[in-house]
Amino acid sequence: MIHKHLKPFPKNFLWGSATAAYQIEGAYNEDGKGISVWDEYVRAENRTYKNTNGDVAVDHYHRYKEDVALMAEMGLKAYRFSIAWTRIFPEGRGEVNEKGLEFYDNLINELIKYNIEPIVTIYHWDAPQKLMDLYGAWESREIIEDFNNYCVTLFKKFGDRVKYWVTLNEQNVFIGHGYRGAMHPPGVSDLKRMYEANHIANLANAKAICSFKQYVPDGKVGPSFAYTPAYPFSCKPEDILAYENAEEYNSHWWLEVYCNGEYPKAIWNYLEEKGLTPTIEEGDFELLKQGKPDFLGMNYYRSETYEMNPLDGVGAGKVNTSGKKGTTEESGVPGLYKTKKNPNLKATNWDWEIDPEGLRISLRRLTNRYGLPVLITENGLGEFDKLTEDKQIFDDYRIDYLRSHIEACQEAITDGVELIGYCTWSFTDLLSWLNGYQKRYGFVYVNRDEESEKDLARIPKKSFYWYRDVIQSNGEKL
Ligand code: BG6
Repeated sequence: MIHKHLKPFPKNFLWGSATAAYQIEGAYNEDGKGISVWDEYVRAENRTYKNTNGDVAVDHYHRYKEDVALMAEMGLKAYRFSIAWTRIFPEGRGEVNEKGLEFYDNLINELIKYNIEPIVTIYHWDAPQKLMDLYGAWESREIIEDFNNYCVTLFKKFGDRVKYWVTLNEQNVFIGHGYRGAMHPPGVSDLKRMYEANHIANLANAKAICSFKQYVPDGKVGPSFAYTPAYPFSCKPEDILAYENAEEYNSHWWLEVYCNGEYPKAIWNYLEEKGLTPTIEEGDFELLKQGKPDFLGMNYYRSETYEMNPLDGVGAGKVNTSGKKGTTEESGVPGLYKTKKNPNLKATNWDWEIDPEGLRISLRRLTNRYGLPVLITENGLGEFDKLTEDKQIFDDYRIDYLRSHIEACQEAITDGVELIGYCTWSFTDLLSWLNGYQKRYGFVYVNRDEESEKDLARIPKKSFYWYRDVIQSNGEKL
């Protein structure tokens, strides 16, 4: 569809940027905060790039006022950040830590002072370690109640000022990496456990949404999903089927549950044959159906291309966490699909294919299938940045990436997609879970690396001023 004229961005469009607690806050054991699964996981050698951790991260906990002032200078309309469960409930349940609530209360008030809409992510992967020790965190149904109590505490405290809430960030990633890829806590590779934990996370998500409707009736809530649209490598029917397999297995397995309270049939049957379907208890589907989101949060970075993979074909391959281009290995699920490099797309140094059209395709696919408004909760480019001697960063490659993706948003809006807002990843540079500090995403450079915390100075990059103009012109000046 080629439009002669594009519709303008809506007047109240949320031009935003996003971060997550573990990746920016630091102060991992201050003011009563408990230990999270990430605080614990990174203690063992070789789990992250150069053994980096978030103990200090970019010290946002102590510098939040400086960071919010920079957001205000940029004219940001919305800021998406996550709350660390262990700041609120150090042990995941029980006594509330007032100091933890106070930190986020201050942050929210600071944002509101500058007319920046706070978008709160309730869970961005940092489950309390105590709950992991007690009952295996997402592997026990006990977490549904504990998570709900944590959510209700936040709704009661902040629901008067926070109107946009994200329940779980990228359930497909934290469950997939945690229980299949063994790359995130708890570092397990066991599909049965993965599908059980995933079902429990679905129930926790649905219950939290039901509570939300009760406590913040004038707010909007939804999960954020890491959507990577699948493409077929060729028009051979077997490749088309491989792409459909990938779409259902990697995305709609989650999205159908969020939006319709059901698991997609073909994948359910596939898992049933393998004895991998989750245990369903009475009332589960009723709860899943009740916990309907108001919008879909979508994190989009790239597309992925697939071809047929025989039953004795390739399995999981190595992921590039070093920034050495071309080190990502082919990977697949035998009998379902395998990944292929898309010869039509350029890729980053971490081998993520750059595909703005893929963002438009994603927005249209999700709109067509689920009919919900979409909030882009993450989109951005992770790259090496160079600080010049006179302390400037010319990140034109990031501007190009963001510009083309914002254009894709406008095309999607013109196609009829109801897009609420667009949050870049990320506002300041931050810790990339597995890739250390060298894979930078921010508009604001943070002067630190894997070896040293240096002075953690904040330096706006060229993209900072570019995005300021985009916001000021409501997307007209790209
Ligand atoms: C998303 C996460 O998966 O992508 C973020 O929600 C993450 O927390 C971002 O940082 C970029 O991924 P990475 O691996 O490049 O840091």
